[in-house]
Amino acid sequence: MAELFNMLKQDHQEVTDMLEQAIESKDPSQFPKVKKMLDVHMEGEEKFFYPILRNKDKEGMLEAYEEHKVGKKLISEISDTESGNETCIPKIKVLKDVLEHHIEEEESEIFDEAREVLNDQQEQKIVQQFEELKSQKM
Ligand SMILES: [Fe+2]
Ligand SMILES: [Fe+2]
Repeated sequence: MAELFNMLKQDHQEVTDMLEQAIESKDPSQFPKVKKMLDVHMEGEEKFFYPILRNKDKEGMLEAYEEHKVGKKLISEISDTESGNETCIPKIKVLKDVLEHHIEEEESEIFDEAREVLNDQQEQKIVQQFEELKSQKM
């Protein structure tokens, strides 16, 4: 009963590492790759993962969707910014802050709640759905 949560945590780690790398090196050239990973991760959570929380923690679930919306706005703004623009790295920093807050809530509260409502079979199913989505879109 850990595969799903390990997979999500690994995505979180990869994405935040890549953002950190871009900030430290002041080089946003890998951002399109981060965007692709985030798009797929968020789509998978929204379609397959968050809905299981509706009867457990509706408020927390709705908040997670809203945090994704903020993240997506920032991601699209960064994508529209020339890499040489002086605001590009600051925008990436703000995205990283927003995502870190979201990931923190996800890995503490949301994962615990999900562990309480999911059985092994449901967890496997979500992992499978995520893998299909990743193979389609990445
Ligand atoms: Fe996540
Ligand atoms: Fe999320």
